[in-house]
Amino acid sequence: MALYSFVCFSLLLTVSAEFQWKHHNNEELPLVLQEVHNNCPNITRIYALSEPSVCNVPLYVIEFAQVPGFHRPYIPEAKYIGNIHGNEVLGRELLLGLAHYLCDQYRKNDPEIKALITNTRIHLLPSMNPDGWQLATDTGGKDYLIGRTNNHEVDLNRNFPDLDAITFDFERQGLSHNNHLLKDLTQLSAPLEPETRAVMRWIMSTPFVLSAAIHGGDLVANYPYDESKTGASAAEYSASPDDETFRELAMTYALAHADMASPTRRGCHTTSSDDVSYNFGKQGGVTNGAAWYSLKGGMQDFNYLATNAFEITLELGCEKYPSAELLETEWNRNREALVEYLWKAHIGVKGVVSDSKGFIPNAIISVVNCTGSVTKPIRHDVTTGPYGDYYRLLTPGQYEITATHTGHFQASRMVSVPKNQKSAIILDFRLEEFQGKTNWLQDLSSFGVYSPSLRNSQPRIYKRSLYEKVAETMLENREIVKQ
Ligand SMILES: *[C@@H]1O[C@H](CO)[C@@H](O)[C@H](O)[C@H]1NC(C)=O
Ligand SMILES: *[C@@H]1O[C@H](CO)[C@@H](O)[C@H](O)[C@H]1NC(C)=O
Ligand SMILES: [Zn+2]
Repeated sequence: MALYSFVCFSLLLTVSAEFQWKHHNNEELPLVLQEVHNNCPNITRIYALSEPSVCNVPLYVIEFAQVPGFHRPYIPEAKYIGNIHGNEVLGRELLLGLAHYLCDQYRKNDPEIKALITNTRIHLLPSMNPDGWQLATDTGGKDYLIGRTNNHEVDLNRNFPDLDAITFDFERQGLSHNNHLLKDLTQLSAPLEPETRAVMRWIMSTPFVLSAAIHGGDLVANYPYDESKTGASAAEYSASPDDETFRELAMTYALAHADMASPTRRGCHTTSSDDVSYNFGKQGGVTNGAAWYSLKGGMQDFNYLATNAFEITLELGCEKYPSAELLETEWNRNREALVEYLWKAHIGVKGVVSDSKGFIPNAIISVVNCTGSVTKPIRHDVTTGPYGDYYRLLTPGQYEITATHTGHFQASRMVSVPKNQKSAIILDFRLEEFQGKTNWLQDLSSFGVYSPSLRNSQPRIYKRSLYEKVAETMLENREIVKQ
């Protein structure tokens, strides 16, 4: 009897260790994650977001990291989110497959996957909308809309606070406050759904750098902004300050995918050869969101405007609910792209901002693009996290990076970002304090000298020495006045 149960047990282990390509239901999903965790206990952690779905299904995440559960300076964090639209199911299975694959390759000592996990903290949320998945599945998974929304019939990708409206408004007014705009929100157009709230808390509390949400229904990598600047719903290119970087991120996925970027493939909704509907293959497999169609309240733009994270939206196939037999083929068509994209968390510049007392959280990192003949500020600052660390994704070129924090002299350095980075250029800043002269410091910031916003609105590049000179002059004047 004892022997029998032992055999049974080991049989079970062998069988379940093999990942199966099929549609995993809401009970099976956490079991797959558990299986991966059992195989790779040292580099994974499973957790649920702060709130479950409307129907009380937990939103499970699996994390891969050298030290799971902790943010570490110089280690960028990235995430994938699947199944935000419940009837778009491929992302859900691809992320379960990716979890299995990362663990498997790590155990096989695959040098690329080992390096990726050692240097990146990766979070996978296979399903953001398990209730929609259930409805879509129960109704045969054939309808273009049934199961898209959550159980309150709310489209979760329209339910995020509309920060685009705020940033466009600031742009029009010539204000250059251009990041972490959630605190500028005065009203919500609709109540937040539990799934949205849970993901917002997650986004706001983890220092993500890179992200992608996976959808279905077309084949294209879509980048910000999703919302048009004029309010037009017709197609209208809506560029973010990081347009170049976002294009690079989207193209990375498209080019590493089996045929997303192929100009000869058929468009998803093309019926005849002279059909004018979109064939994204003919434009490199990428599109600006609003250049396709404008939407408000999307998760992608929220990431960029509320946090330091850069998120794109991946449409991974014409069919929203592909049959189970197609899943493995789809995995093979996407595997390289899914891994290649995660490496993009390592482009540009990263570092730690500190002073004589230690790390400085919430320091502002601003960038001027000095490539070529014209210098051009990139009007989207990022900030340092709780350990004073920052990550500034950039495409190859020359940049002036400036670190700013109240009570400190600002510091700027030139940096050259190379091609094909697998590790960001490290640029640490040690800021000098004003040594308690806080009175005139406030005067100084009222002049705007230390405001990165003002700085960004001027094409001219200030050198650190100039700032020092200005500050010293003012200090001298102040002391003369005092006497
Ligand atoms: C996990 O780490 C421990 C301690 O370092 C080690 O003994 C063990 O072999 C590791 N397990 C796996 C599956 O890598
Ligand atoms: C900086 O400018 C160069 C030249 O115009 C461009 O190729 C590069 O992508 C720009 N970088 C960013 C991050 O916008
Ligand atoms: Zn979708």
